[in-house]
Amino acid sequence: MTDATPHSSLYAAHQARVMAAFDSAMDAAGADTAVVFSGALRMAFLDDHGYPFAVNPHFAYWLPLVDVTDSYVIYRVGEKPILTYCQPDDYWHALPAAPDPYWAEHFDVRVVRTADAAKAHLPSNSKAPIFIGEPLEPAHTLGIERINPSAALHRLDTARTRKSEYELERMRTASRMGATAHNAAAARFAAAPASEYELHARYLEAIECVDSDLPYHSIVALNENGAILHYQRRDRTVPEVGRSFLIDAGAASAGYASDITRTYCNESGLFNDLITSMDTLQQELCANVRADVDYRELHLLMHRLLATLLVEHRIATGSAEALIDAGITRVFLPHGLGHYLGLQVHDVGGHLADADGTPTERPSDDPNLRLTRSLSADEVLTIEPGLYFIDMLLAPLRSSAHKDLLDWQAIDALKPFGGIRIEDNVRVLDGGQENLTRDAFKAVA
Ligand code: GLY
Ligand code: MN
Ligand code: MN
Repeated sequence: MTDATPHSSLYAAHQARVMAAFDSAMDAAGADTAVVFSGALRMAFLDDHGYPFAVNPHFAYWLPLVDVTDSYVIYRVGEKPILTYCQPDDYWHALPAAPDPYWAEHFDVRVVRTADAAKAHLPSNSKAPIFIGEPLEPAHTLGIERINPSAALHRLDTARTRKSEYELERMRTASRMGATAHNAAAARFAAAPASEYELHARYLEAIECVDSDLPYHSIVALNENGAILHYQRRDRTVPEVGRSFLIDAGAASAGYASDITRTYCNESGLFNDLITSMDTLQQELCANVRADVDYRELHLLMHRLLATLLVEHRIATGSAEALIDAGITRVFLPHGLGHYLGLQVHDVGGHLADADGTPTERPSDDPNLRLTRSLSADEVLTIEPGLYFIDMLLAPLRSSAHKDLLDWQAIDALKPFGGIRIEDNVRVLDGGQENLTRDAFKAVA
């Protein structure tokens, strides 16, 4: 069956870009052949079932195969790439699907029965091959000695920061899937009290997914749980009151992710007002995304806007500068503004100043900020400000010299609501931005 989506007509131009990226990477590494491994299934200790498979993203960069193990792309500069496509003799499991013509015509596809059969397909005149991937077993490298040379990876990571039309279309698809599922979960939350488990099930059902189809472990948090930044449980109990609902969940199209967060509240009052103000704040940050803007500056803008918001809602008093200098905004918002997005949810290249691997300077106040460079057109990144009421961070502030800058009664009343995060996926344009997430919510409305 041929893929009838717009992705298929865009694929050839994408593959040309991947080839150019590999040409550059191989030049930097002094290589004439790149062998890119899809990956192998990692088995449970002393058992015969595997962990969920996560494909090597450099393999998925070449072609839309995310569930095929033991396969290789073998590329020599300027030549049609070979794909050794592993379809094992295995009557225990379903076989990988037959290659789809829209991408397969751009490869010399060679069906093999075992991973190491790929060795026979290495070009005999290769003098300087490199292996890109994770060799769980030594045999996976096919005898190649140079594994993931950093000179090559820096070039590949740099190339991957700027998305092709094919990749953008994949990410728009992933965004529409995410928006559809978010709407289903939000409608369930609004209708009647529900458990986190049921809200998660509604999310999956709306886009006919299972957990392993999603690009990351969804955060599905009711009430206080919204203050646990990477809350991982899905509580089966229905809370007496569903005050607030924070859901950070995405979807994927051929490995390309969306990463979307929304926060809802069923009651009027301060927390609801804060959601509205955080949405305005988040859109202001999105509106500042454009080429040549330094993402570190946007991160600092987030703290200035948050300080103003805390004062406007009488949670804090003082100037924005004073609240930032006292570290107060970082108590309410202890994570970064966001990260690159693509084949990896926290996509590569966020700390590269250039394609040779020079690292960018990290802000000393926020050493964990995942994106620390100036933006370029066609990068896709997240904008995900938050506002949380986290006991572990509030406790030292409550007894600090700055305690009188805060309205603790208001804060204590807000703690049962957990926190707020609003996260969109944004493409950088020369003079502005494309908001994939907001467009997706409009498209599926
Ligand atoms: N969902 C993980 C993140 O927002 O970074
Ligand atoms: Mn997220
Ligand atoms: Mn994110």
